[in-house]
Amino acid sequence: MVSTHPGGVQLSAQQYLPQASSKNINISPNQELLPLSAKVNSHDHLEIGGCDVITLVRQFGSPLYILDEETLRTTCRQYRESFQHYYKGQSQVLYASKAWSCLAVCAIAASEGLGIDVVSGGELYTALNAGVSPEKIYFHGNNKSREELVFATESGCTIVVDNWYELHTLVEIAENLERLGDGEMKGSFHPIRIMLRLTPGIECHTHEYIRTGHLDSKFGFDPNDLDELFSFVSKQSVLNCVGLHAHIGSQVFERQPHQDLAAVMVQWMGKAADYGLTVTELNVGGGLGIKYIESDDPPSIEEWVKPICEVIQTACAAENLPLPKLLCEPGRSLIATACVTAYTVGSSKVVPDIRTYLAVDGGMSDNPRPITYQSVYRTIVANRMSAPLTETVTIAGKHCESGDILIENAQLPKTQPGDVLVVMATGAYNYSMASNYNRLPRPAAVVVANGEANLILQRETYQDLIRQDCLPERLKN
Ligand code: LLP
Repeated sequence: MVSTHPGGVQLSAQQYLPQASSKNINISPNQELLPLSAKVNSHDHLEIGGCDVITLVRQFGSPLYILDEETLRTTCRQYRESFQHYYKGQSQVLYASKAWSCLAVCAIAASEGLGIDVVSGGELYTALNAGVSPEKIYFHGNNKSREELVFATESGCTIVVDNWYELHTLVEIAENLERLGDGEMKGSFHPIRIMLRLTPGIECHTHEYIRTGHLDSKFGFDPNDLDELFSFVSKQSVLNCVGLHAHIGSQVFERQPHQDLAAVMVQWMGKAADYGLTVTELNVGGGLGIKYIESDDPPSIEEWVKPICEVIQTACAAENLPLPKLLCEPGRSLIATACVTAYTVGSSKVVPDIRTYLAVDGGMSDNPRPITYQSVYRTIVANRMSAPLTETVTIAGKHCESGDILIENAQLPKTQPGDVLVVMATGAYNYSMASNYNRLPRPAAVVVANGEANLILQRETYQDLIRQDCLPERLKN
């Protein structure tokens, strides 16, 4: 079936299944639309992680986020093994938990040897409670509060310092701690482990809101300030500056920007050495894109990692610098493809000669990406996988807002109320950006593996929705 919008030809449901066997580690999940374990079972239903999606919806309700453990573990391993293969020094892959922060996801990433990148006290709290070791947690953010900085310091994680204000605040916090350490807690103070985030001025072609590496960015130190910055930091005995960090954007398909970044970062490292700062870690950020629609063509994980390692090795050799510990922090490419969202079809409306709306039981509250970034998704009918595509419909959410459209011009078989639609590649920036708009309870999420499904996020209840509400006595009726 052919569609002209958007992204060109849409495939039938079965054609979205990963082509080779899921045991074929050459599949880079970010180049697929469905999780690696996706199959069609004898009922013509979509099966993920050995679980029938229709049975899952019956058991756990709808909408439902379904996370395939095999895909998530595979992406974690591919990142880790690619660095081990192509990089001669030490490396550490961090999961950018802003993509989806919850206990189970952090625990799976950590069990695969990954560290965690957090950007708030809440994400830090989640990672710590998932059992992630603080030595493997890196705390980012352009406006960390004093409370967050104290929390981060006490937890023992590494703080990625973003700006002068934060740097001065941290020095003050550290000096106070040192003073305490001189008194009743003698000897207990250790300089705070920090990295410095810099804005490399590298452009990449992605949505304007998700570009972060160009000079006009709210994140990071201006590289023109490097001398002043390194000079200041080198004099702070209460800080232990271990490395440099940069992140240039998200959903990036080009490989050149990250190679340019790697080269620039080695130059910065050389400059830090001139100020007596021994920088032993470089973090090149995240950003590798994924396939949301057929025409998306991101590099594989290995293709992304390899040239970065090569550039760093060559540049370090040329500058006569020791190889740093190399870090990166992917979010989207680690988790997006591992998850799908299952919705139940409800009402429909035909607007003659214009379009047919098909409404599902979720929408912009569980997936705000279409309305926020005009992101395009694909969907399939999970209870009739081999049915031919005969209709073109617009998938609408259930929110009181005309813009609450999940997918325009989706090609589907004829549907009826009760059918289960699966929207693919929803693992990143869906649950983590979900809201309670219109007071919709946030959906449940399950992790599936080997025919077993376990709840990882409970569906919110109406009681949950009013849990934080306060009704002052004088307003009670
Ligand atoms: N590190 C830093 C410092 C970041 O700011 C980000 C993403 C990442 C790592 C992870 O990037 P990734 O590998 O996921 O591309 N909400 C937007 C994406 C915002 C990305 C923000 N920073 C979306 O839904 O497309």
